[in-house]
Amino acid sequence: MKKLRIGVVGLQRGRVHCVNAKKSEYTELVAVCDIDRAKADRYAAEYGVKAYYDHRELCADPDIDAVIMATPIDVHADTVVDALNAGKHVLSEVIVATSLDDIRRIGKAIRESGKTYMMAENYCYIRPLLIVEELIRRGMFGEIYYAESDYLKDFQEYHPLFPNIGGWRQKTYFGRRGHPYITHTIGPLLHIMDEKITKVSCMAAGRAFDMPADSTCTLMLETEKKHLIRLRASFVSPRPDNVTYYSFQGTEGCYQAPQGPTDFHKVYIKGICKPGEWKNVYEFKDYLPDEWKKYWNVEDYAADALDNDTYELYDSGALMMLDKFADCVLNGKPVPVNFEDSANWTAAGLLSADSVNLGSIPVEVPEF
Ligand SMILES: NC(=O)c1ccc[n+]([C@@H]2O[C@H](COP(=O)([O-])OP(=O)(O)OC[C@H]3O[C@@H](n4cnc5c(N)ncnc54)[C@H](O)[C@@H]3O)[C@@H](O)[C@H]2O)c1
Repeated sequence: MKKLRIGVVGLQRGRVHCVNAKKSEYTELVAVCDIDRAKADRYAAEYGVKAYYDHRELCADPDIDAVIMATPIDVHADTVVDALNAGKHVLSEVIVATSLDDIRRIGKAIRESGKTYMMAENYCYIRPLLIVEELIRRGMFGEIYYAESDYLKDFQEYHPLFPNIGGWRQKTYFGRRGHPYITHTIGPLLHIMDEKITKVSCMAAGRAFDMPADSTCTLMLETEKKHLIRLRASFVSPRPDNVTYYSFQGTEGCYQAPQGPTDFHKVYIKGICKPGEWKNVYEFKDYLPDEWKKYWNVEDYAADALDNDTYELYDSGALMMLDKFADCVLNGKPVPVNFEDSANWTAAGLLSADSVNLGSIPVEVPEF
C-alpha cells in the first residue's frame, strides 16, 4: 500500500504525532524539524529519520508529501502557509491561527495550492464521543437543539511556573479575554452537530488574578440553525481539571459527560431508558462504528465505566485522527475537520474577546 510520507515540525506536541506516524499503517515518518537543534537531532536519531532546523527546509524535501505542523499557535499562520506554498498537505495543530487575517491567509494558500488542510482536533475522537456521535447520526437523540462544554484547568495548582509559564500558553490562556483556545471545547460539539457558529457572545467573571484574562468566562453561541451552545473556560480556577465535559440535548434524548471522578458517561433516550433514569454510554457500545474498533477494545474499556478526564481518554483518538487524514489524502476523500470548520470554530473563540470587551454584545462570526 502506498504510504503518506510525513514530516513533523515542532517537537513537543509533535512527538505524539511522530510516534503515531511510525505506528500508522497509512504513514511513514521521514523527517522531523525544530528550531532547537539539539531537540531535532535527538528525536531524528531516536526515530531514525532526517533532522531539519528550519521548517522551510523540511517543506522543500521532495521525499515528504505532508507536514504535521505542531509549532506554537502564534507561528501557525507563517509555517502552515509556507508548507502549503511548497506543495505539501498539512495536518495542523489547534487553533488555526491567532487573528482573522491570518486565518484568511491560510484559506488563500489552501485554495491556491489545491492541497489538503485538516486541523488536528483530537478531542473529536474521544472514545465515548464516538458512540454518542453514532447515536446522534442515527437520529436516536432527535434534533439536537442545545449543547454545552467546559474547558477547566487549574494552572495555579498544577504548573510550577505559574503565572510565568511563558510562550504561547501565557499569551493564549492568560494574555487575553474570552476563550481563544476554543477548539477542544467547541470542536467535538460542532463536528457532531455538523453546523457552523453564526454569533458569539461572552460574559466574564472579572479578574480575581493579576492578568489580562478573566478568572472564568462563559460563551453563548448561536448556530446557523438557531441552535444554542454554552461553553465555559477557565485556566486558573482552583478545582480538579475537567477539559472533556460535553453535553448534547435533542428532542428525543441527551448525553452528559462526567463532571468528576465519581460520575459516568450518561445517556437518556426516550422509549429506551426508563423515565428519569440515565444509562451508561457503554451500554450502547455496539454502536461504535467498525472502522474505530481496531483502535480499542470496547469490552475492556466498558469495564472501566467510570473513566473520566484523563490524558489517555482525551488523546486516545490521535492515531485514528492521523489515519483518517492520511486515508483522505491518499484516496481523495474529504477530511473530517476541514478548513471551513476549523476557521469557524477558531474565529468564534477569537471574537469572544471582542464580545466581552464590548460589554458582552453578540458578535457575528464571518464565513471563511
Ligand atoms: N491537541 C492537543 O491535545 C495538544 C496538546 C498540546 C499542544 N497542542 C498544540 O500543539 C502546538 C504546539 O504546542 P506545544 O505544547 O508543543 O508548544 P511548545 O511551545 O511547548 O513547543 C513547541 C516546540 O516547537 C518548536 N518551535 C517553535 N517555533 C518553531 C518553528 N518556527 N519551527 C520549528 N519548530 C519550532 C519549539 O522549539 C518547541 O520544541 C500548539 O498548536 C498547541 O495548541 C495540542
